[in-house]
Parts: sequence; structure tokens; C-alpha cells
Amino acid sequence: MRDNPHMCPVLPSPKEYELLKPNWDYNMITPGLLQFHRLYTEKECEEIRDTYFYVLENRVDSMGRVSFGEDSSKYGEAKGHKVCYLHKKNAFQTRNPDILKKLISVTSFMNDRHKKPLVDTMINTIEYIRYKKGDWLGWHTDLRGSELTTVSMLSEQSEYEGGTFQVKDKDDVVVDLDFKQGDMIIFLSKKIEHRIKPMKDGRRRVMVIEIGNADDLCRSGSSSDSDSSSDSSSSKPKNCRKSKKRRSSSKKRSRS
Ligand SMILES: [Fe+2]
Repeated sequence: MRDNPHMCPVLPSPKEYELLKPNWDYNMITPGLLQFHRLYTEKECEEIRDTYFYVLENRVDSMGRVSFGEDSSKYGEAKGHKVCYLHKKNAFQTRNPDILKKLISVTSFMNDRHKKPLVDTMINTIEYIRYKKGDWLGWHTDLRGSELTTVSMLSEQSEYEGGTFQVKDKDDVVVDLDFKQGDMIIFLSKKIEHRIKPMKDGRRRVMVIEIGNADDLCRSGSSSDSDSSSDSSSSKPKNCRKSKKRRSSSKKRSRS
């Protein structure tokens, strides 16, 4: 891990992820989006949840509601979801290094398929997100410096109804993802339009990690600094090589 608490660990070399790859079960949903099936074990999903409770109990961060995405004439105004930032004070990085390594291996694999691979990566945000009945997000892409977004499903499908994750494929056809506990999707943040359909019942929990070019993120400031109830001071990249005045945040939200 580099000095910067928000820096990704150095990406594994191709040889390293080739060693992990035989255990991966993945398919391409559309160019720019891969789905990895059962990448995480049930135990690892519980460990992520434990870190969420640790963050709450130690007041590293609290849950705050965010809402964004295009409004829908069918569903009305987006209700959003609740989010808690796990990257603050290195909580996730310190408590879940093996899970992070697995995730970074997949990121590296995806990055090598990219036309313009990232050369100096940095974590933009690590979010624990919870949806309850009535929550949903409209169509959006992930902006503000993120290049690759990962969404990891922490809940069993039996724990909730509704909340379908949808993406638009290369022909603009809407695809429903069959998202099981332990699955992870990784996609090009700025290219893949996605949304979450309204929750009908239960609770749906995901972890979202967004990764970008370190220089871009340092120029613009971390994405998580503009979210509603979060402590902005602890979510900014702290050790960027060149600290520049942050741009004013866009009104249009972009988050998974
Ligand atoms: Fe998103």
C-alpha cells in the first residue's frame, strides 16, 4: 500500500492475476461490463458487513441518504439509497486487505482489456450501500473522476424483492442483471448507463468501489466529498502530489 490512504495497492502484475483467474467464473454482459460470479464467499460478505458496523460504531462515518439519476415518469422522483463510506480512516483497507486484493486483481484484469489502461490508480470511494422498500436510483453514469466502478452484491436474493440492477447494452437495450450474493460487476464508469429499480421489500446491500487515475482524482478532489451527510474532510485524497483547489461539485449526482 502506498502512503496515500486512498491509493489502491499497486495493481497485480498479469502473472499474479493469471494465478487467480482459473478460479474466476465471469462473463461479459456488454462491452465494458464484466460480471464475476461468486467472487466473494458468504464469509467475506459478512466481513464487509462487519467493517460497516465497525465504521458506524466507531463513528468513522454515518449513514446518509443520496439520490440521483434521471427522474422517471413511471416511478416519479428517485428515492435514492443510504450510503456509508468505508474508506475513511483506512477502515476497509486495514480490515479487509485480502478482499481488497481480490478486487484489485479483477480491476487489473479489466484494466488490461481497456483501450487506455489506467497507469496510476487510486480508489475514489468505497461505499456500503443499503436499499430499503421504496428506494431506487435513476439512469446515470459514474462521473467525477471514476474510470472503473465495481459493485459487489452482499445480500442473498431471498432477502429482498425488486431493486433490479439494470444496464443499457451497446445497442441501448436494457438488460436485467441476475445478481447473486458474492457476485461482482465491474464496468467503465463513464460509459455504462445503469439504474436500480424500486425496491418492493426487504433489504439489499452492496459495496461499491470506484477507481480512477490518481492525477485526475487529485485535481478534482474525491467524489465522496460532496455527499449529503458525510464528513467531507476525511474523505478527500490527502497526499496528492499536487494539491489544487477543488472544482465546485456538480449538481448532478453520480453514484452507484
Ligand atoms: Fe452508479
